Amino acid sequence: MEIAIIGTGYVGLVTGTCLSETGNHVTCVDINEQKVKMMQQGKLPIYEPGLEQLFHRNINNERLLFTTDLAGAIQNASIIFLALPTPPGGDGSADLSYVLGAAKDIACLISSYKVIVTKSTVPVGTADKVKAVFEKYTDVEVAVVSNPEFLREGVAVEDFMKPDRVVVGTTDQRARKLMADLYSPYVRQGNPIIFMDERSAELTKYAANSFLATKISFMNEIANLCELVGADVDMVRLGVGSDERIGKRFLFPGIGYGGSCFPKDVQALAKAADENNYDFRILNSVMSVNEIQKKILVEKLKKYYNGNLEGKRFALWGLAFKPETDDIREAPALYIIDELLKAGAVVVAYDPEAINNVKSQLADSILYANDLYEALVGTDALLILTEWSAFRNPDFDTIKLNMKDKVIFDGRNLYDLQKMEEHGFYYNSIGRQV
Ligand code: UGA
Repeated sequence: MEIAIIGTGYVGLVTGTCLSETGNHVTCVDINEQKVKMMQQGKLPIYEPGLEQLFHRNINNERLLFTTDLAGAIQNASIIFLALPTPPGGDGSADLSYVLGAAKDIACLISSYKVIVTKSTVPVGTADKVKAVFEKYTDVEVAVVSNPEFLREGVAVEDFMKPDRVVVGTTDQRARKLMADLYSPYVRQGNPIIFMDERSAELTKYAANSFLATKISFMNEIANLCELVGADVDMVRLGVGSDERIGKRFLFPGIGYGGSCFPKDVQALAKAADENNYDFRILNSVMSVNEIQKKILVEKLKKYYNGNLEGKRFALWGLAFKPETDDIREAPALYIIDELLKAGAVVVAYDPEAINNVKSQLADSILYANDLYEALVGTDALLILTEWSAFRNPDFDTIKLNMKDKVIFDGRNLYDLQKMEEHGFYYNSIGRQV
């Protein structure tokens, strides 16, 4: 199949690369000439495990192309994916100008039936808006399909190649057939392609992310309560997660959800509810719980140091909003750094992938270390903010030698309580006893 992908951000690039892997001929379009040149030379602009191998293989097989030429890319394409940014506007709702702008450009160029797929997370009713743009600028028939992505950063390739489900919102029979053909190689284990109308597909995406965010905020509150009543959240998590109706996944408490999706999508869904005169009470609580949770480690530190963090030196392990990514968008680490600096503390940070992104945002307001042990030299306490595998089994003797005090505040519950006690650490984690 001939496919065009408009926008080579995270979603566009993973989608394009993974679609070329099953034999489709995929042309990815971007207006950023420098980025396109880079990809044409075989360089990936993002870090995503497993993507590089597929990217090179399909470029070499000439099934994956990059261009700035929109007209050329869409001419023979039967399916055109819009994978464009939808940043939150000033009022919290998604800004659709990129999506609708691209729809207009495409409408002015096409001369035969096309399936136009919105892949970006877009508010309910966007497919209708895209349809209206096509009706305004062309007489050529198109089907506008909503096909939200459920990719997690860090495991996006796996999520694309073996999805739990594929959601396709369309009432156009021709488009339905093409989309079924396109996705059939990815659901061979029997996972469903769920067809529905466009609006239901659009809402499914927001509902899924908001539900997962709710699950996390709920567990964060349970964790906070565990500390007060003398329970252990790891035990409670196992106890409740074994109930299939609840499920084991996404029950890990921590320092709040971050990233480019959950915070934005929860906010956008609450806003959409509000616009429809519906007070989505749970979502409002989910957001306020998350705001508090992002700063919970700072509150714990202040309590430990009797309210005074002035001049204290803290090592931070992990800056990315989660492991296996260099993404720091809405990362709890940034909020924590901000609070620590405001309180007059010195911050030394280490992350296996995200250091450069943090450097370009925070410059020399904090110190950076080249490895995890270097970060600890002379520090009052270690704060663990991302659960990178490399932090799971460190050399605790080296840690003790490097640190000024044996104090760890762990926002990701990486270590065994008894082991920490044996090593003589003051170890404060989330939802467990100190
Ligand atoms: C999320 C969804 O999981 C994807 O299905 C969706 O496609 C994507 O958003 C999107 O809308 O594009 P992602 O933001 O990459 O994916 O990351 P997650 O693995 O979902 O983690 C989100 C946040 O929740 C992270 O800050 C993570 O630390 C936190 N989290 C996750 C917890 O605090 N506890 C958990 O048990 C799980």
